[in-house]
Amino acid sequence: MASKLFSTLTIRGTTFSNRLWVSPMCQYSAVEGVPQDWHFVHLGSLAVGGPGLVMAEATAVAPEGRITPVCTGIWNDEQAQQWKRIVRFITSQGVPAGIQLAHAGRKASTDSIARGSGPVDPEEGGWPTIAPSPRPYGRYAPPQELDEEGIARVVVDFASAARRSVQAGFSVIEIHAAHGYLIHEFLSPLSNFRTDRYGGSPRNRARILFEIVDAVRGAIPESTPLFIRFSATDWVDGGWDVTDLAELVGPLEERGVDLFDISSAGLDPRQQIPIHPGYQVHLSRAIKQVARVPVGAVGLMTTPREFEDTLQAEDADVIFAGREFLRDRMLVRRAAVEFQSEMEWPEQYLMAKFPGAIP
Ligand SMILES: Cc1cc2nc3c(=O)[nH]c(=O)nc-3n(C[C@H](O)[C@H](O)[C@H](O)COP(=O)(O)O)c2cc1C
Repeated sequence: MASKLFSTLTIRGTTFSNRLWVSPMCQYSAVEGVPQDWHFVHLGSLAVGGPGLVMAEATAVAPEGRITPVCTGIWNDEQAQQWKRIVRFITSQGVPAGIQLAHAGRKASTDSIARGSGPVDPEEGGWPTIAPSPRPYGRYAPPQELDEEGIARVVVDFASAARRSVQAGFSVIEIHAAHGYLIHEFLSPLSNFRTDRYGGSPRNRARILFEIVDAVRGAIPESTPLFIRFSATDWVDGGWDVTDLAELVGPLEERGVDLFDISSAGLDPRQQIPIHPGYQVHLSRAIKQVARVPVGAVGLMTTPREFEDTLQAEDADVIFAGREFLRDRMLVRRAAVEFQSEMEWPEQYLMAKFPGAIP
């Protein structure tokens, strides 16, 4: 059977050479939102491994939208300039570069995972957070409720960040609407208690997302693919779930969304997640059943066989892998050997392609 993992995919003006993509992963290594040499080497070496796409980490559209003080941003030209250098290298390897545009909402101003993920006090460089409602996440500080002016500013920030991203050379834009960050906070009835047109009905709770999608789509070329990452469930009774998300798929496709990247959780500390390999695949399957555009699966898949089986079962059109790429940057090349698929190798590494040859 022909490998689906090594089939190409074209979305608008971008062709992806295979279906195994690098999932966005925060590196907690930026200075004032500016990506550093670490990001260059980290993302650059991932590109050398030949994935279909390298998606850069959750990158804030405004300073207060950073998850931590050491998260990347793209709200100013200095940041865009440093991204440009990184993107130039990634694309020189024949790999499209994507950027995940994010606003952390009430989960901003926290420490990195290595430092315990707790809230950062203002004396230590933290900042006041914003959210749809003044309800805190767990033990974090209560956020300030956004008024309509604040919501409009967030929408403009996403559009400006998208424009800068395209100028920096990114060929894919992903809106981060997952993991309990600002957009997800609007979507979920467990964090949105508003009584205005941004709260109440599911459609009202999705209003800010629609506004952001329209603004971003308007700020980027027709040829640029636009993805959204969603948490398809809060894993809490009475929370946002996959049936709510399914209702948004058609309207978002009409507005020019090109791929749904299906993750889960992150909104409420009461979440109960049944963890096992591929534990989110049933969610991408459910969205794939209603979507006309491609759907991505992610989460605890580590072997080429698991990736291929998920695609063969039509549970997803592409696989995002995270941690396995941190363990093995050559994951795609290893899969190519397993499925006897031909891959381009960088000239510098050509001798690795022919292990029997004597240098
Ligand atoms: C270090 C680290 C940082 C992450 N940062 C992000 C992020 O910036 N944006 C995002 O959507 N998910 C983020 N995630 C989640 C991953 O993209 C992925 O969805 C998750 O790790 C599950 O996939 P895996 O089992 O293949 O790692 C992060 C995960 C890790 C391990």
